[in-house]
Amino acid sequence: MSKEVLVTGGLGFIGSHTVVEMFSNGYIPIIVDNLSNSSEEVLYGIKKITGKVPTFYNLDVNNKTALSNVFFQHKIQAVIHFAAYKAVGESVQKPLMYYRNNVGGLITLLEVMQENNCHNIVFSSSCTVYGQPTNLPVDESSPVAIPASPYGNTKKICEEILYDNHAFNVVSLRYFNPIGAHPSSMIGELPLGIPNNLVPYITQTAIGLREKLTVYGSDYNTPDGTCIRDYLHVCDLADAHILALERINSIGFGEKEGHFEVYNLGTGNGFSVKEVIDTFISSTGVNLNFTYGPRREGDVEKVWANPSKANKILGWKTKRNLTEMLVSAWEWQKKMNSK
Ligand code: UFG
Repeated sequence: MSKEVLVTGGLGFIGSHTVVEMFSNGYIPIIVDNLSNSSEEVLYGIKKITGKVPTFYNLDVNNKTALSNVFFQHKIQAVIHFAAYKAVGESVQKPLMYYRNNVGGLITLLEVMQENNCHNIVFSSSCTVYGQPTNLPVDESSPVAIPASPYGNTKKICEEILYDNHAFNVVSLRYFNPIGAHPSSMIGELPLGIPNNLVPYITQTAIGLREKLTVYGSDYNTPDGTCIRDYLHVCDLADAHILALERINSIGFGEKEGHFEVYNLGTGNGFSVKEVIDTFISSTGVNLNFTYGPRREGDVEKVWANPSKANKILGWKTKRNLTEMLVSAWEWQKKMNSK
């Protein structure tokens, strides 16, 4: 069977780490990325780690003709679909742009896959689909909530589209909070402009690019009053995509009429914003200027995963702890600043 796997958004944060793991596991990643939130330089980072330069097409998944041409050029066995906009706040400002890109992009991709007899897809979903769960840790049987943002709604709608289309074998991966960088510091997160997410904001503040970090809210119903999340290392998350491909292969298209599975990907441990800050300071020895501010609109108070299903069925287990996540993010920040 062909080992060529299409990776949309393969130069992004999670995509690039997954491409590295694909090479180590004998897959041939074929990247399509429109560089809207990534850079062609990531290819050289991947080459430094793996010794290989992946095939790359600079195109938008919404461009059906160009995407069809990629399927014409390669024998694509499966697709890992990362390409999407992901800024929660921006999605509130520009909802149509989010629906067009994230939902429209998936529909175009599925049409092209179907026309080319490719039925296997791993989809990037998010724990945001749970909203604020009543039971913690949250497992996959928890109801999907009314989304707090258009971004969250695009993930929910995309899962529904995949669920409804029985021509596809689907593994939908609900990520919790991916952070960190490859231990080589050759690839990592490249936030555009002012970061929205906690860890890039911490590392940019620590290196002096930002004056101080604002902790959004200190009056939550948590032990120290700050929000709790389930942070996981991006390399652990990348591993899960290899296992998801193996899972789809083991299901075997043709034996069943399509197949839809969803998995939580988190460590199972929640850490508060304050704990993340404290761990960053103690593990890097670097001071961090921070202050407490008001709550950020749309934030859930606390969420962490029950990853038992992924542990059991995919055979996936996270290997890196919070200290390793934060130290790798810091090493990456220092590397970027030294350029
Ligand atoms: N936070 C701060 N200060 C900051 C940034 C974040 O205190 O400057 C807090 C947030 O309030 C939250 C925690 O840090 O309590 C984590 O925030 P992130 O923005 O890093 O991540 P979220 O949990 O908000 O996750 C969101 C979406 C995910 C999406 C992710 C990445 O819910 O679906 O952003 O885009 F995947």
